Amino acid sequence: MSSVTERETGMDQTAKLELGGKEITCPVITGSEEEKGIDISRLRAETGYITVDEGYVNTGSTTSDITFLNGEKGILRYRGYRIEDLAAHCDFVEVSYLLLYGKLPNDQELHEFRMSLRRHTMLHEDMRSFYNGFPRDAHPMAILSSVVSGLSTFYQDSLNPSDPEQVRQSELRLIAKLPTIASYSYKKSIGQPFVYPQNKLSYCENFLNMMFSVPGEEYEIDADFVSALNMLLIVHADHEQNCSTSTVRMVGSSNANLFASISAGISALWGPLHGGANEACVNMLERIIADGGNVKKYVELAKDRDSGFRLMGFGHRVYKNHDPRATIIKAACDKLLAKLEIKDPLFEVAQELEDVALNDSYFIEKKLYPNVDFYSGVIYRAIGIPVQMFTVLFAMGRLPGWIAHWKEMHASAGKRICRPRQVYTGPTCREFVPRENRS
Ligand code: CMC
Repeated sequence: MSSVTERETGMDQTAKLELGGKEITCPVITGSEEEKGIDISRLRAETGYITVDEGYVNTGSTTSDITFLNGEKGILRYRGYRIEDLAAHCDFVEVSYLLLYGKLPNDQELHEFRMSLRRHTMLHEDMRSFYNGFPRDAHPMAILSSVVSGLSTFYQDSLNPSDPEQVRQSELRLIAKLPTIASYSYKKSIGQPFVYPQNKLSYCENFLNMMFSVPGEEYEIDADFVSALNMLLIVHADHEQNCSTSTVRMVGSSNANLFASISAGISALWGPLHGGANEACVNMLERIIADGGNVKKYVELAKDRDSGFRLMGFGHRVYKNHDPRATIIKAACDKLLAKLEIKDPLFEVAQELEDVALNDSYFIEKKLYPNVDFYSGVIYRAIGIPVQMFTVLFAMGRLPGWIAHWKEMHASAGKRICRPRQVYTGPTCREFVPRENRS
């Protein structure tokens, strides 16, 4: 028999755990928003037991100062600031500064940060030849993760995770170059020449120009597209210990360099249960339209466990309420489509799907709501971003969050290599059988 009780001793709380007649006391850690966790790091040493939590559903891997989210109340804040305020009043570079350095920059700080980024937007000419090796139809997420990993071969002077100056160089290079790397992968896929970055342009303007301008004609950057893109990058910029961020922290915990760690995070993000859901969601909406637009049929399919079908862009490990990012994106979507006078059947089907699902007892009971990936694809489409690039855009947004977490992990006094344990369930010790005697 085992049990856990919590007890308050003055200012400190502890949890008492009874295991096989032995009682041990574990410290309780309380966060600044009154979240509580039991520190079980001494459990095995004192009792021989470990904890098991497949998928880390209930496991806190760290304490963190970067992002607060409350999934029951639908709250998301970066460094204490509400996502709604940041999305309404900041640009992405400003929010990147906030995530990386913990404070909103003043004019001077922001100017210097923008200037530092602008110095690093170009790719080494030899890197451009990497792109010749990829097949024309390569997925841009594969290119992104390969080229980011390849950056470590060009910047061998800044790979030491313990040297703050080298880390700073690498973080600037990454944030500055990701749009260039991303847009080159798109240009490669459509057989157009790469467009060099133009440092007089803002971060989002520059990206749109590298994506859509061609040498033969003038390209006018649409201010509405710039502000929609800015908002999307901001709402994707961090989300505490999600799959890709935990990957970045885990890879970084072995003291792998920042480029290698971010490349791993990009690979983790690619999966359809994570950042790849935006691409999967648009594919799903197109499938529904092609199949006659019968939304109810797909809601029924998603409820049937045996169908293997899920509503993409729906549900979340942490949010059991409206995802505040989805609310911001849906409002922006409405506004942008109205302004551009676009009637996108995808947006209409998405809204219908949301209505049907949110009134269905299956989704109500399981607390499944649209997530960040449900409406983002509709905006990307309006801007002209091809479906395969959606998750690349997510990666561009998430980059400052990944870097902030990587740095926080390295700065932690308790930093150790991440190395979970397991409970072994395979065969017990067996006698070896020489090959000639095996049946
Ligand atoms: N459609 C239908 N049923 C669902 C869905 C869905 N989208 N999501 C969860 N469920 C059901 C699931 O079948 C399970 O039912 P039961 O309890 O009967 O087994 C229950 O809800 C809990 O789901 P879970 O898979 O155990 O929950 P999780 O926390 O492990 O997974 C999730 C979270 C986001 C992977 C999942 O909701 C999902 O697969 N959603 C679709 C993919 C998606 O939109 N991903 C983007 C997430 S947000 C952005 C990001 O992280 O990058």
